[in-house]
Amino acid sequence: EKGGYKHFMLKEIHEQPRSIADTIRGRVLPDGSRIVYKEIGISYEELALTKKIYLVACGTSYHACLIGKYMIERIARIPVEVDIASEFRYREVPFERDSLFIAITQSGETADTLAALRYAKKSGVKTLTICNVVGSTASREADGVFYTHSGPEIGVASTKAFTSQIVALYIFTFALSKAKRANPADINEIFLSKLFHLPTMAEKALKLEDKIHQLAKEVYKKPNFLYLGRGLNYPVALEGALKLKEISYIHAEGYAAGEMKHGPIALVEEGFPVVFIVSDDLYLEKTLSNMEEIKARDGFIITISSSKEEKLKKLSDRFIYVEGINSYLNTVLFSIPLQLLAYHVAILRGCDVDQPRNLAKSVTVE
Ligand code: M6R
Repeated sequence: EKGGYKHFMLKEIHEQPRSIADTIRGRVLPDGSRIVYKEIGISYEELALTKKIYLVACGTSYHACLIGKYMIERIARIPVEVDIASEFRYREVPFERDSLFIAITQSGETADTLAALRYAKKSGVKTLTICNVVGSTASREADGVFYTHSGPEIGVASTKAFTSQIVALYIFTFALSKAKRANPADINEIFLSKLFHLPTMAEKALKLEDKIHQLAKEVYKKPNFLYLGRGLNYPVALEGALKLKEISYIHAEGYAAGEMKHGPIALVEEGFPVVFIVSDDLYLEKTLSNMEEIKARDGFIITISSSKEEKLKKLSDRFIYVEGINSYLNTVLFSIPLQLLAYHVAILRGCDVDQPRNLAKSVTVE
């Protein structure tokens, strides 16, 4: 049942090239020229009218929402609000007209997410769910469903479901952007066609496992970790930290790299591990200066990056190069070594990675 792997989590991490391909299949044509809208249950015309989007979820799915915000705002040019489900439902949100509410949930059974979904529906807002489990409560109650089709996820720590949520959001963003005519068609197509490289690139990212395993041996006894990123990599940092704390019980925090000097830098002393997630984009320069600040305090810098910039390598104590695609899809590729790092650290610490203490696969109480 674990397909030759020691744990479901490891199996699910390795399944990602396939699960990502399954999320893409049938939604976009291989030449990137057409997006299939019908199954979403929300018409092209309705999408075209959308003026505001609310993305709501818990845990890892919430991190996918944050990534979605960066994608939708930049590409489809629609304002997006993101919230944690348990907060959203008590906020008494004054919904704006022509809003779309999207609940992201692997299981489709998370109590807080369902409550937020019901609240939005009751308020007369159109609802969509990005969901993995076919026939789940969320999929039955929302007006529309975008299934991630990543296959059953057994490990309590979400891995393949997360990367499929990002892929679903990427496709949805382009559907939206086409409906809104936010970008010239050829730009849409160039970006969409990149998506078809993702399964192969995920396969390449998985090949980093030995390197990550060696790294895990160096750091598994550290009591604290900081994960930093900017832009789309900020939620990737949050997810990297969540993964590590969930299964290894090491205290880990994710932060926007620019926020570091507003507090967390106080923690940094000799050997303190800081994981930087860096794309080859407009944030690179700014992130380099954050790295210098850590270096000056003798922190231990681990860099996961798609850039080969010399300065970046020089500042890093350990450098993991991940071949990238674009800043949007790199969030998927960077998540893979971060999942593997959490997994190997947890194993070295003798933890039960598939059944971490105090956690349940789906949280059905509020
Ligand atoms: O099934 P859902 O996506 O609604 O679950 C949300 C969270 O409970 C879930 O992501 C949780 O944070 C996982 N343990 C993360 O690994």
